[in-house]
Amino acid sequence: MVAIIVAAGRGERLGGETPKAFIDIAGKSLLRRSAEALARSGEIGALIVVAPPGFEDQARAEAASTGKLRAVVPGGDTRQESVRAGLRKTAPRDRVVLVHDAARPFVDADVIARVIQGVRTHGAAIPIAPVVDTIKLIQGDRIGETVNRDSLGAAQTPQGFDRAALMGAYARAARAGVALTDEAMAMERQSHPVAAVEGSPRNFKITTKDDLDRARLLLAPAQPLTRVGQGFDIHRLVPRKRLMLGGVHVPAAVGLEGHSDGDVLLHALCDALLGASGLGEIGSLFPSSDRSLRGAPSSRFVSEVMVRLARAHLSIVNVDATLIAERPRLSGHLMAMKDNIASLLQVEPGQVSIKVKSADTLGAIGRGEGIAAQVLALLLRS
Ligand code: CTP
Ligand code: MG
Repeated sequence: MVAIIVAAGRGERLGGETPKAFIDIAGKSLLRRSAEALARSGEIGALIVVAPPGFEDQARAEAASTGKLRAVVPGGDTRQESVRAGLRKTAPRDRVVLVHDAARPFVDADVIARVIQGVRTHGAAIPIAPVVDTIKLIQGDRIGETVNRDSLGAAQTPQGFDRAALMGAYARAARAGVALTDEAMAMERQSHPVAAVEGSPRNFKITTKDDLDRARLLLAPAQPLTRVGQGFDIHRLVPRKRLMLGGVHVPAAVGLEGHSDGDVLLHALCDALLGASGLGEIGSLFPSSDRSLRGAPSSRFVSEVMVRLARAHLSIVNVDATLIAERPRLSGHLMAMKDNIASLLQVEPGQVSIKVKSADTLGAIGRGEGIAAQVLALLLRS
């Protein structure tokens, strides 16, 4: 079975520079999407692409990856002529021919299978989509009458035919000088029965800018509702500095070194929030070269990050933190840190968890040389 993809139109109603079939939606051209959809059917053995004259090489490049491309031929001034150009590349051994608009890139396997089944049974079949609007006959700017919708259907592609019957009907239409807007019309003129199989609203034809917008929306990656981020920080403990953790002063003989107040917990928290939101990291937002930040309370960083989250329509589901510290003992201060962080983040304390672990006397932290913090944050997009 062979499928002809007509892609030779200029796309005047779309009004772009590029011929319509080469327009890209989400990384692939209309032509490539249509060719891939047809090639996925195991029943279709070969593709013939009808390209805008002068664009044959580009069309070949788009369809070659299917591994089923038989020929690329230049199209004509009308769709009918383009179909005829494609038909010339078919052979008698192609018992069934499908004709598909490159401009319908969302055709799916079910529609293709129904058309193929229809041709097998009736010799000709086309997909029909229901007409949902009330249809009026109009004369100028006046309404004539309402057409009974039950007897209407919108013709889609691929349209499938017994090759010999279609060739005959096309030749006769050409001799009679009849303009055809689809293949079924040629068959109707010969009173050849054409089966109507179920089409799909998704198999719409990209004709106008609105159709293109709709196509791009369909393929836009769904924005996930939740985002997770993690942050880590470690600072050295030094004498004669106030020890600040989670924005809380912890009385101790040592404090954390750092450009700001050295609050590793708030720094890791900022990085978790920024990481989850994809808005960068604390070092690039608050560079240590910024003199105004010397000794600054790290709660200022948290407030800045919160402004950015709000702008990005992200809210906090929960944060979970682990402090890794050998000294001083921190367990008595965790509740105060939790309350303070909850108020900085404008969430309930139940949305904040803080744990502390010793390093089991291993390594630098185990020797009490510093304190590290890890934070996980989950954000919700509103
Ligand atoms: N087509 C073709 N040769 C033509 C005209 C149309 O192969 N001379 C193809 C188009 O490439 C498209 C399909 O027929 O895949 C349906 O036609 P349509 O949506 O009308 O596309 P265009 O003719 O390109 O668009 P316009 O009518 O807006 O110029
Ligand atoms: Mg057209």
